Amino acid sequence: STALVVAVDGPSGSGKSSVSRAAAAALGVAFLDTGAMYRAVTWAVLEAGVDLSDAEAVAAHVRTVPLVVGTDPQAPTVAAVVEGAEVDLTEAVRTARVTANVSAVAAVPAVRQDLVLRQRTLIEAACVAPEPGREPGIVAEGRDITTVVAPDADVRVLLTAEESVRLARRAQQDLGTADSEALAATRRGIVERDRVDSRTTAFTTAADGVVTVDSTALDFDGTVAAVLDVVERRV
Ligand code: C5P
Repeated sequence: STALVVAVDGPSGSGKSSVSRAAAAALGVAFLDTGAMYRAVTWAVLEAGVDLSDAEAVAAHVRTVPLVVGTDPQAPTVAAVVEGAEVDLTEAVRTARVTANVSAVAAVPAVRQDLVLRQRTLIEAACVAPEPGREPGIVAEGRDITTVVAPDADVRVLLTAEESVRLARRAQQDLGTADSEALAATRRGIVERDRVDSRTTAFTTAADGVVTVDSTALDFDGTVAAVLDVVERRV
């Protein structure tokens, strides 16, 4: 087909979300933030008061939650349908409470199976029925897109950066000019989340055929250009 699927994985603070958005915009295709989907179902599980240590109950609840995912690279959105009403979660999924609990929800195999299927459906839709004015295709980013969700993607990229650089970027993103105590807490949270996540998904090493883009010495535009360069060489 003529559709273009670009899979991007990477750790927290690698810039994969903002870089993938910019790459999708440049390519004129859709954008999928799979982390936002894990965050949205985590919000729903917390909202419903489900015991997070009960994996079966978590997965059962997640299955009942319809997600509405907007794939515009300029303004991606995520919403959930709760008791028949659509609740916009675009802001709510960024709260510290969701961030602190998302790894536990994402570690449940039945939750992953559920969301992987939904992600494949969204990728397929962007390829066969793109929004008006958009090219068929998508840049999808997360932790297991190159390996599990879309291992047959036209282009697969692992976006990395040295840990110190990732921590500095994420701290700045999350807190602006916060005090050193808050920065230290952010750093501990990121290191811990990556540690827990790495038991569930393999996002620290590139799988066979996956191109590593190291953004340690690159600025934002340079990183986007490097990803677009991989796309150009591969298609
Ligand atoms: O990318 P982001 O930090 O928003 O992802 C939030 C969380 O969702 C991650 O910490 C991880 O637990 C989970 N996740 C995942 N697989 C993906 C994307 C995100 O397990 N493909």
